[in-house]
Amino acid sequence: MKSKYVEAAVYKNEQISDCVFRLSVKGSFDVKPGQFFMLRAWGQEPLLSRPISVHDVDDEKITFLYHVVGRGTQIFSKLREGDDISLLGPLGNGFELDMLKGKVALVGGGIGVAPLNYLYKKLSMNEGVEVSFHAGYRSQPFGLECIQGSCSLLNIATEDACVGEKGYIIDYFEPKLYDIVVCCGPEIMMSKLIKKCEAAGVPILVSMEKKMACGIGACLVCTCKTKDGNKRSCADGPVFLGSELILND
Ligand SMILES: Cc1cc2nc3c(=O)[nH]c(=O)nc-3n(C[C@H](O)[C@H](O)[C@H](O)COP(=O)(O)OP(=O)(O)OC[C@H]3O[C@@H](n4cnc5c(N)ncnc54)[C@H](O)[C@@H]3O)c2cc1C
Ligand code: FES
Repeated sequence: MKSKYVEAAVYKNEQISDCVFRLSVKGSFDVKPGQFFMLRAWGQEPLLSRPISVHDVDDEKITFLYHVVGRGTQIFSKLREGDDISLLGPLGNGFELDMLKGKVALVGGGIGVAPLNYLYKKLSMNEGVEVSFHAGYRSQPFGLECIQGSCSLLNIATEDACVGEKGYIIDYFEPKLYDIVVCCGPEIMMSKLIKKCEAAGVPILVSMEKKMACGIGACLVCTCKTKDGNKRSCADGPVFLGSELILND
């Protein structure tokens, strides 16, 4: 179990949409899509580090996409080039690329597109995989830079109809067209999509974003219910087969 934080320097931290920032950190990291890091850019307070998924990786930096919702992410949003940040990771199981063959649909809701970007990048290097991307937002889309222009099929829905279809992306999504579906987004979205995929007989993987404290399997804060009993979202997940989870409607 990894538990050592490393210090690194911020490469870039830029606002890309309302309350959404893209943070790159210098360094070379070996990461599987769907894994996450515990990040902190402060001393004692707030007590807990914040879990953030890997959005992209290249030879010289790792990139995160984050939504500013509270104290921790507000501190992240003030970081400037050269500032220090501490990282623990990569953590979690990530997506099993061997499972993702044939026609693969990636479905993201809001900031849930963050981990799907790196998954898309990895999958599009694999022969025998045809990836399509489906993204839903309240308003203006974000986080699709790698996908736009390179993905054979990109569907967007926005609740205010500013781009793409009006409403929820999963209402426009047909699981039967795919061999496997991957989803990251609000729990209610994932729950509805799991049901839709189950009805269509199509397997689905989801990335659970439970609240976390330690990120390494020690505190049980991130417990989620599965058909095999309680599991830790940080150490046993965050990626689970939809069919094993018991989610609230
Ligand atoms: C495995 C994993 C990967 C994640 N990846 C990303 C990512 O790539 N980008 C991103 O923006 N966010 C991601 N999150 C969510 C992110 O960790 C929280 O938004 C963040 O911790 C909030 O910290 P804060 O100090 O800004 O807010 P806080 O002040 O701690 O909380 C503000 C509000 O957000 C709620 N909140 C806190 N943590 C979570 C959580 N985990 N899920 C849902 N609501 C929460 C609180 O209940 C509160 O209402 C991820 C979470 C997990 C578990
Ligand atoms: S966050 Fe501590 S066990 Fe998962």
